[in-house]
Amino acid sequence: MRSLLPLSLFLTVLDVLHTVRAVVPFEVITSNNPPAHRLGRRAVPISNNGNAAYMANITLGGVGVSVILDTGSSDLWVSFPGTPPTTTDTGKSISLNYAVGSASGTIHKAELKFDNYTVPDQAFLQVADSSSFSTNSAFNGLVGLGPSDGSAILDKIKGNAGETMLSRIFQQNKTSSNYITFLLDRKNDPSASFTGQFTIAETVKGLENITSQTKLNVETVHRLLDDQQHWQAITDKDSVIGPDGTTLAIKSIVPKAPKGQLVAVFDSGFTFSQVPRELSDAIYGRVQGAVYDAKNEWWTVPCAQELNVTFHFGGVAFPMHPLDVVDDNFKILDTAGNRVCIGAFQPITSAFSLFGNFDMIMGMTFLRNAYTLMDYGEWIERTSNDRGDPFMQLLPLTNRATAHADFVKVRLNGVDTTGSSQFALLPASQQQHSPVSAEEKKKKYEEMILSRWPYIVTGSLVGFILLVGFIIWRCCCRNRRAKKKASAKGFFEPKSETYLPLQVHGQGSPPATSSPYQHHQQESQQSLNSQQAAYNHNPQYSQQNFHQPPPSQYYQQGYPQQGYQQQGYQQQQQGYGYAS
Ligand SMILES: *[C@@H]1O[C@H](CO)[C@@H](O)[C@H](O)[C@H]1NC(C)=O
Ligand SMILES: *[C@@H]1O[C@H](CO)[C@@H](O)[C@H](O)[C@H]1NC(C)=O
Ligand SMILES: *[C@@H]1O[C@H](CO)[C@@H](O)[C@H](O)[C@H]1NC(C)=O
Ligand SMILES: *[C@@H]1O[C@H](CO)[C@@H](O)[C@H](O)[C@H]1NC(C)=O
Ligand SMILES: *[C@@H]1O[C@H](CO)[C@@H](O)[C@H](O)[C@H]1NC(C)=O
Repeated sequence: MRSLLPLSLFLTVLDVLHTVRAVVPFEVITSNNPPAHRLGRRAVPISNNGNAAYMANITLGGVGVSVILDTGSSDLWVSFPGTPPTTTDTGKSISLNYAVGSASGTIHKAELKFDNYTVPDQAFLQVADSSSFSTNSAFNGLVGLGPSDGSAILDKIKGNAGETMLSRIFQQNKTSSNYITFLLDRKNDPSASFTGQFTIAETVKGLENITSQTKLNVETVHRLLDDQQHWQAITDKDSVIGPDGTTLAIKSIVPKAPKGQLVAVFDSGFTFSQVPRELSDAIYGRVQGAVYDAKNEWWTVPCAQELNVTFHFGGVAFPMHPLDVVDDNFKILDTAGNRVCIGAFQPITSAFSLFGNFDMIMGMTFLRNAYTLMDYGEWIERTSNDRGDPFMQLLPLTNRATAHADFVKVRLNGVDTTGSSQFALLPASQQQHSPVSAEEKKKKYEEMILSRWPYIVTGSLVGFILLVGFIIWRCCCRNRRAKKKASAKGFFEPKSETYLPLQVHGQGSPPATSSPYQHHQQESQQSLNSQQAAYNHNPQYSQQNFHQPPPSQYYQQGYPQQGYQQQGYQQQQQGYGYAS
């Protein structure tokens, strides 16, 4: 959970914005009629930075700061714009690593105000230098809205004092429910009917019936480690409907995912949604003029191409707004200098789950199409009410017909040419497939092993016991048989040498069926060796992960995440020249 790369894409995109800033003024929307306190209901306004980042204001140590709302991580860090206010320094330093950049500093405590709540001594990471993270001034930090299990600050400062902002807030009113909701607005949407809003233990006016939507269980597919818990849900069966109106059947990488269903993480820190490569290819690979940009790892398509994509969760259809599916927020040019748009359901690469915890990440491109409720339930300690299982509820916001009209207005100058031959999808047989890099092949292979390690370990153990049992039996039996040999019937021999011993010794079933994972068990020995060789080439993997012997360290260091994050970061550094 911790540092689930929430910012990889977001920052990629901000960087793109930097390079094209002269072309596109990059303004922060501030709503004209803030909905806060409207009709007795509280809602914190959310600002939308070019459809690439969503932020809210908090007051920390008396200073107002703008922080990214990130459901993909669990820590609060702030880099004060001017001279930092006087706060309590705990003297403990930590470093939070994201796909792009890291935030390091010391943990401080200060009075925090958010919504209508005041936390007298909120723990947060005070970052002196966040330049490796971003030089963008649109925000001063980030507030993680994920479960506290993923909090690095809580790891350092145990107990109540180290709890996340939301835990501290929920603990103030022990009888209220432990949920948040958020509504992300879409910039450049001609029929936009709401502003960005964030609420705590209340719903946004007019959207109250989100509380009657299906409750999506977020713990169904077990993660292997506690800090790998995300805000996640399983899609319905065959739930993704592609641009040609048919189901896009994609196989899950999650070992326990039900057949035909995918595990989706909901992460407000990702600008673009991260989906399995086959899914991204199926959405964009049949568009005439589609080009895969291997450097940025996204598809580019003509901006006038309307693509309808629908996801299903909890038996409900979530149509994606075509303005979100083909993204025009970043003014990208192709090699010939023509404007093209980005396929905003991007192949998952740096965020790929090496432990096979999830298939895809629903970022802002998805979240703008749903009003989202996240109920923390029993994840919040020290509250008396709302002790149930955590869950999510989603209410669709996009109406297909209105969205189509919006698209025609914005991208086609009001003339509906979506039916013309230039926009017809190529036949499925002519679909383009984006190249899979060697790095990605390796990751997929590693995932296959790592996601199954508990079974592999169990399988190895069972195998070892069977082997020892077999050797013991052979020794004893040899002796006995040697004595019996003279009188034994010849035809009995072959059978007794094969499977009889195992049954005689009551070791359960014969070896071939003793564990369904036997196959993987054999695979694992080979591959772990080759993996270790591979990891050794990568100092981060070897130092941080494989060379830390005690298992407890793995937990503390957020084993799976840090490896891929930092790797992601390095890729970014190469691609965009980030200074570290
Ligand atoms: C955050 O605070 C700044 C400065 O007070 C203000 O200009 C801005 O509108 C606020 N943003 C939101 C989303 O409330
Ligand atoms: C906000 O908090 C103040 C003081 O705690 C309280 O008087 C006020 O009623 C609250 N407002 C709302 C809308 O709950
Ligand atoms: C606590 O929450 C309940 C339910 O939302 C509300 O009725 C009550 O007024 C709240 N108490 C305080 C002190 O804010
Ligand atoms: C939510 O409310 C609207 C009208 O306010 C209604 O049309 C819709 O059916 C309701 N949805 C659910 C899931 O209750
Ligand atoms: C997308 O869906 C809308 C609404 O159903 C429809 O009017 C439009 O023709 C569809 N566009 C394409 C390219 O399929």
